[in-house]
Amino acid sequence: MEDNRIPRHIGFIMDGNGRWAKKRGMPRNYGHTKGADVFKKCIDWCKELGVECATFYAFSTENWNRPKDEISGIMNLLRRYIKDIRKTADNDTRIIVLGDKSRLDKDICDDLIDLEEKSVNNRGFTAGIALNYGGRAEIVRAAQLIANDCVSGKISPEDIDEELVENLLYTSEMPPLDLIIRPSGEKRLSNFLIWQAAYAELVFMDVLWPDFTKKDLQSAIEEFAARNRRFGGI
Ligand code: FPP
Repeated sequence: MEDNRIPRHIGFIMDGNGRWAKKRGMPRNYGHTKGADVFKKCIDWCKELGVECATFYAFSTENWNRPKDEISGIMNLLRRYIKDIRKTADNDTRIIVLGDKSRLDKDICDDLIDLEEKSVNNRGFTAGIALNYGGRAEIVRAAQLIANDCVSGKISPEDIDEELVENLLYTSEMPPLDLIIRPSGEKRLSNFLIWQAAYAELVFMDVLWPDFTKKDLQSAIEEFAARNRRFGGI
């Protein structure tokens, strides 16, 4: 595959963990555990295939409505992941958290801030983890920051343009989003990177996230490469 056919930034909606577990008569958290394994492998697959950046939807603003034990199961997987990457000495991956970390447990929030700070100069790959994330909330946050700057006189309303908004999104230091992959057969964005998705290609797949393989990633990238992206032109 030629390099320009490789998406620079892929968004993953890691869907289908619950159904995967249910099919096996197992609790939903078993599906999330398998899903977290695939998440880790997927970062390696992206690196191997020449993708620069990937953002994973791990926990949405709406996911707080799930049962307490499911939420704590996902949070514990996150704790385990944080521990794992701290052990990896040769890690060249930058971690960026998308979403309001302040609602997460304090130890997780502090560890994520630390991880973001310590990895800021890593250039090998950028992994975005969307946690307590919602696309609408992200845009509202940008609007609030802009309103504050207007009120304080730092900028005037005429200065507001797309670039200004983009610079206030969690993705401001990532390459543009090229592709969103959603497994599990659902065909919607579910409030994931809705601003950034304006010109992203969308690939929906039937495989459930815990069964997602490098082959599935390759086939989504091949579909991306075969599409004719016009960005509103002809
Ligand atoms: C959606 O599937 C999945 C989630 C809401 C959680 C995703 C979280 C992980 C894969 C673990 C993340 C861990 C780390 C370390 C980042 P679903 O539960 O809605 O599945 P269903 O639609 O089949 O019920």
